[in-house]
Amino acid sequence: MTERRSRLEGKVAIVTGAGSRGEGVGNGKATATLFAQEGAKVVLVDMEIDRAAETLAEIEAEGGTASAFAADVTSDDECRELVEFAIAQYGRLDILDNNVGNSHRERVTEIDLDDWDNIMTLNLKSMVLTSRHAIPRMIETGGGSIINISSISGVRAGKDPAYTASKAGVIGLTISMAGDHGREGIRVNAIAPGPVYTPMVAWRLSEEKRAYRKNTTMLRTEGTPWDVGWAAVFLASDESKWITGTVLTVDGGSSMVSRHVYSDDVMGV
Ligand SMILES: NC(=O)c1ccc[n+]([C@@H]2O[C@H](COP(=O)([O-])OP(=O)(O)OC[C@H]3O[C@@H](n4cnc5c(N)ncnc54)[C@H](O)[C@@H]3O)[C@@H](O)[C@H]2O)c1
Repeated sequence: MTERRSRLEGKVAIVTGAGSRGEGVGNGKATATLFAQEGAKVVLVDMEIDRAAETLAEIEAEGGTASAFAADVTSDDECRELVEFAIAQYGRLDILDNNVGNSHRERVTEIDLDDWDNIMTLNLKSMVLTSRHAIPRMIETGGGSIINISSISGVRAGKDPAYTASKAGVIGLTISMAGDHGREGIRVNAIAPGPVYTPMVAWRLSEEKRAYRKNTTMLRTEGTPWDVGWAAVFLASDESKWITGTVLTVDGGSSMVSRHVYSDDVMGV
């Protein structure tokens, strides 16, 4: 048997939202950490640079290679600068993990229209902004892998229309980009996480809600950001070299049966 080599050795990755809000580990932080453990050089993007710096310190303590970069991914100029930073720092770009996103929780009858625009910009347009600058650079070195973080909330009813619409939009964007850029060697896939316990949702989950949420999965366990991160490692690596335009659901089986009561307690997002 040949010795197993690191799955992302020689590759350069950008992870957006690579810090974590609050205590604990978010999906972006876990993904960036696993990318570095698998040998990638990682640009850790966060609008709160202290959060990216925390992830950086942990990666460096493990002997990994990464850099923190402050950018708001809703700004086209900052996304351009981010991609140029990755090239200047590491000479190429192979992987883009578009992780930034947030929920809002106002029904259509109540939502402030500026809030609607802000969620669509943060969750969906941001992925267009990073990708439009990343793709030409990936093409220069033969291609790359783009991973867009959607949600199982993007394909079912919930009390958060802006979140649902934006996450469904992420799936549409993924399919469209996969079609447009496949011939250029760019693979584009989405991950749809289910009830994952991260700082994004932890603050609004009581122990009771958390237990209920866990029970909605077929495995009767809660997802962790590492489950999302390992899915991203697979989609970033050459192991998935013939996979593009797919949505990889990471939800403990919670979306495959109709167990859910229509409740905002289920996802917590
Ligand atoms: N937790 C869940 O149950 C769950 C389920 C499905 C999908 N998701 C998705 O996972 C992603 C959340 O990932 P996370 O756990 O890393 O989130 P997080 O809330 O921990 O945020 C990560 C970082 O993103 C940064 N950020 C926020 N806005 C930014 C911007 N405009 N530009 C740059 N950085 C910005 C924050 O400062 C934060 O440090 C979202 O897309 C979310 O929709 C989560």
